Amino acid sequence: MQTAPDTDMMDLHYQATADGFAEAARTFDEDEEGNILLLWMRERSARLMNQAFAPGSMLLELGCGTGIEAARLVAGGHRVVLTDVSAGMLERAVPKVSAVREAGLAGAHQMPAAHIGTLVDRYGRGAFDGAYSSFGPLNCEPDPAPVAHGLAELIRPGGRVVLSVINRICPAEVLWYALHLMPGTATRRLRGPALSSAVPGAAPSFLTYYYSPSDFARAFSGGFRVLGCRALPLILPPPYTAHVMRRFPRLFQLLGRLDDALAALPIFRSMGDHFLMELERV
Ligand SMILES: C[S@@+](CC[C@H](N)C(=O)[O-])C[C@H]1O[C@@H](n2cnc3c(N)ncnc32)[C@H](O)[C@@H]1O
Repeated sequence: MQTAPDTDMMDLHYQATADGFAEAARTFDEDEEGNILLLWMRERSARLMNQAFAPGSMLLELGCGTGIEAARLVAGGHRVVLTDVSAGMLERAVPKVSAVREAGLAGAHQMPAAHIGTLVDRYGRGAFDGAYSSFGPLNCEPDPAPVAHGLAELIRPGGRVVLSVINRICPAEVLWYALHLMPGTATRRLRGPALSSAVPGAAPSFLTYYYSPSDFARAFSGGFRVLGCRALPLILPPPYTAHVMRRFPRLFQLLGRLDDALAALPIFRSMGDHFLMELERV
């Protein structure tokens, strides 16, 4: 885990991240629609959230993007407060979610996840039945501890948190880039934060931090207990290889089945492109 930079540095970091994702917001939904790996991952994350959140829950989303998850949860009868560091993302998420059910959108705030605790003044202590953050927003935070402290204030005892976070150890990525004779890229996650871009091919402009499940278990240990964790995915390669997987549908299905069988087993569950973790507020 990295030492927290000073406030001015953090403002610059969040601004660079917000700008990078504002650019991505324009094509985010179309890019995902054609990506069989991302859809496979989202299906598993959605399944876990459906089990974790009781019907009619009041939920908080960190890094909502264009509102894909929130729209689904609101359609399922939950109420959601959206947060994201990028105004460009919220501009898309808010109309999408309120079009599903206006009363389902309980609020929207432009803020980094690290500042989530400030929402206690607005919604009250323990106001939420659960929270979630899907597919990498928390990898843009240099330290998960302030997020954990904020959520401990906001989530009621017994409430659940579901997180998907880009993992530091991803054997499929190492193999993929080793086969492409790109050793530097193959080991990028192990070397600490990396300059990234949110749009494929764009110049890298903000930092991504890679975490292990134990980094998160430790950061959340003051107010939460870990209920489960799986690799997402373990054997299937990362989403940027979807163009290859699409050409081999039977291999994709076979690897997917193997993935589901192995991804939650000890050792395997601490690897993968992302990890998917469920926590309970104690
Ligand atoms: C890969 S997208 C995922 C979006 C959404 N969760 C989904 O599942 O489609 C990452 C999102 O995290 C947001 N984000 C990046 N850094 C953040 C931070 N520090 N706090 C909150 N949101 C952040 C970005 O603006 C972007 O909307």
